[in-house]
Amino acid sequence: MRFPNRLVLSAMAGINDWNFAKKYEAGFIILGGFNADRESMEAGIRAAKRGRKEFIFHDPVSGIENQLRMVESERRVVGINVRAATSEGYVNASRLASEYGAILEINAHCRQPEFLEIGCGQALLFNHKKLVQIVELTSKHADVAVKIRGGLGLDYGMIAEELFSSGAFLIHVDAMIPGGGADLELVRRISEIGNVIGNNSVRDVRSARKMIEAGAKLVSIARKALSDKDIFKKLLVDEVLASGIEVV
Ligand SMILES: Cc1cc2nc3c(=O)[nH]c(=O)nc-3n(C[C@H](O)[C@H](O)[C@H](O)COP(=O)(O)O)c2cc1C
Repeated sequence: MRFPNRLVLSAMAGINDWNFAKKYEAGFIILGGFNADRESMEAGIRAAKRGRKEFIFHDPVSGIENQLRMVESERRVVGINVRAATSEGYVNASRLASEYGAILEINAHCRQPEFLEIGCGQALLFNHKKLVQIVELTSKHADVAVKIRGGLGLDYGMIAEELFSSGAFLIHVDAMIPGGGADLELVRRISEIGNVIGNNSVRDVRSARKMIEAGAKLVSIARKALSDKDIFKKLLVDEVLASGIEVV
């Protein structure tokens, strides 16, 4: 798959709808996080009640589809970041992704209690056999990325090996170090196994280049995009970050 530059807009639930995301010059735009089934949507409603931003749709699948419809003529790569409590939720999302030429990003990253209680988000990293099954099921339909969180003391090498061999095309690593900063060693380790999007605390050319130097094919940004709407423009002055890349 061809990415027009090395930059990715990382998912932000309740924020990254198409109208928000299209303004950014990233070569890969990740919409959502979305909740793809009834149970995860109910968890989203509970999280929203205590002030978290969430996309709340009456019908989860058609809510996601409405977003994808808006991006149909888009030439950049688009993805949907998805939580679900059931395999069916992920499979429905993978069918939609395939229909609209988008990447499905499975959210094994969220740590909000409402989602952990129903086995979503980073709970999947502690039950990686289930995560592997979800990747096997969904990668029959769509190109699949898995968003994971670092800093949890897990055997990330083993998990990455299993995810790549079960059909994941990309692992999106939030290389957070509890207390701040990015664990470039983790990015390096997983990049030796397969295709990586490096994430956490990227705010300028220097921090973005460090992710690429650690082996990441692509670099993603969330928070800095909220505080600086020109961040991608500023990063694209760098030749390496601006260069297109074929990821296979
Ligand atoms: C408001 C907000 C909402 C987020 N929602 C999601 C989400 O729905 N799914 C997900 O995988 N990550 C989510 N994230 C995590 C970001 O995508 C990213 O991994 C994290 O913020 C670290 O990257 P940064 O240092 O560039 O912000 C969210 C982050 C923020 C700030």
